[in-house]
Amino acid sequence: MMLLAGLLLAFLPQGAVATSETHATAAAAEVLADGGNAIDAAVAASFALAVTLPAAGNLGGGGFMLYREPSGLVWFLDFREIAPLAATASMYLDDYGKPISKLSTIGWKAAGVPGSVFGMWWAHREWGRLPWARLLAPAISLASDGFPISARENRSLSAAANSLMDDPLCRLRLLDEDGRARPVGSILRQPELAATLRAISEQGEDAFRSGPIIEELLAASTAGGGVLAAEDFENYEPKIRPVQRIHWSGTEVYAPTAPSSGGVFVEQCLTMLSHFPLSSWGRKDVRSIQVLGEVEARAFADRNRWLGDPDGLDFNPERLVHPDYLKAAAAKISPKRSTRPTQLEAGEWKESEQTTHYSVIGPDGGAVSVSTTLNSSYGAKVMAPGGFLMNNEMDDFATNPGAANQFGLVQGEYNKVVAGRRPLSSMCPTIVVRSGKVDAVLGSPGGPTILTTILQVLLNRYTFGMSPRASVMAPRFHRQDRPADLQYESNCFSIEQLSKLRGIGQPLRRRGPIGDVNAVFRLPDDSLTAIAEYGFGVVVD
Ligand code: DON
Repeated sequence: MMLLAGLLLAFLPQGAVATSETHATAAAAEVLADGGNAIDAAVAASFALAVTLPAAGNLGGGGFMLYREPSGLVWFLDFREIAPLAATASMYLDDYGKPISKLSTIGWKAAGVPGSVFGMWWAHREWGRLPWARLLAPAISLASDGFPISARENRSLSAAANSLMDDPLCRLRLLDEDGRARPVGSILRQPELAATLRAISEQGEDAFRSGPIIEELLAASTAGGGVLAAEDFENYEPKIRPVQRIHWSGTEVYAPTAPSSGGVFVEQCLTMLSHFPLSSWGRKDVRSIQVLGEVEARAFADRNRWLGDPDGLDFNPERLVHPDYLKAAAAKISPKRSTRPTQLEAGEWKESEQTTHYSVIGPDGGAVSVSTTLNSSYGAKVMAPGGFLMNNEMDDFATNPGAANQFGLVQGEYNKVVAGRRPLSSMCPTIVVRSGKVDAVLGSPGGPTILTTILQVLLNRYTFGMSPRASVMAPRFHRQDRPADLQYESNCFSIEQLSKLRGIGQPLRRRGPIGDVNAVFRLPDDSLTAIAEYGFGVVVD
């Protein structure tokens, strides 16, 4: 009987989806059950998340999509925000060149031109199967009929309530009469957002190019000190970019190239790590932990110095992943010594809760990995009159090169604010292919910790042979080039590990959760499993 069930599973095409929110997962799963492909499910999830996960799901933000067609072709669609045409390198500085507090994080001036609607439209036009309006329908009902506030949303709103208070529409929709988070179980209805989604359903991306939604947005932006203009929306184009393809450990790992730092970071780390016997040391050995931290710190030094919008790079970033360069970098790493930030140098040559990620595999074998963001939780804390929150992605630029941003990243000239350019990102939607089939689809929010989260899940699964669930659920740690601290989740290390790490001079800092992975994996019997760390995953038979 068991054998028969196993055989059946192997032949029945399955789909699977994992997102951070129940209604969005259900919307995507229903699309798969209705004959939609992974792209259709991703589009439905994206619009549903814009309603049910206001901290990160969005119409007013941007993101990255990695799509592997059933034929095996892999595409990277970049729908990241761009700096408005009126943006300048000094727009967040005062007359003395000092950064003006919160200007790049709160309010309309923090917003880049949002790419999400254009990105979803583009993906659906090229690769989708079901009608566009079918994919918007769940989001429209969720916005107009409402949905109950979850405990997680209530906590997230409570944390942001003070900064959401100042914007009248944010306050009206997301907070109660007393300016507190809407209570758990109360029904959140968003009529303005429902009307915007209806317009997008009927007119497609045109509703976001010009017309009432954009005119009202621009009026609010100008009144709020923003610099967005009509041409910014008329001109926005999603871009197809090269995919970083990494041959590693019997797999092909696909990740995005610039303006994501993900592909370069993951390839750098995996290549440097290949010079150390991690699997024989084992995952819990302090040498493995220390080497991993060192490798991460070095990769962050390169990221922050060398990466930005590809249009602004006057060199080929492939040089950052050259095996000889990485071999030399690995040779400087010792499992017994912790390197200080001042000793960490980016390579030299002569001549940058809240984001969300969702993963889908369709019954036809196609796979979609999407990370999308408003940057901070609830973005710039301003809502367009159309009922959607605006991003504060401009803060991902080096708004004051040489000084740390909200994630402690000190980035360089290649990531300075230039009109029309995209800020450097850490978002890293990833797809792993093994034996010609999609083996894993994964991604996470978490600013710079996205990069170390992806790396650690890959190592857990493919180097240390852990199960999909354990690979995702295992506690994580994070190191970037500066500060020197190894940050770790509270249950990550034993007392003995901590004391050994201290013994080799590694500064340590315990912190809250790192990352929020939504992933789909293929199991040895060819069936799928959807794993959502804090969200919801389902398999559709
Ligand atoms: O693109 C980036 O790197 C950032 N805007 C991501 C922000 C983020 O993940 C915040 N979530 N916790």
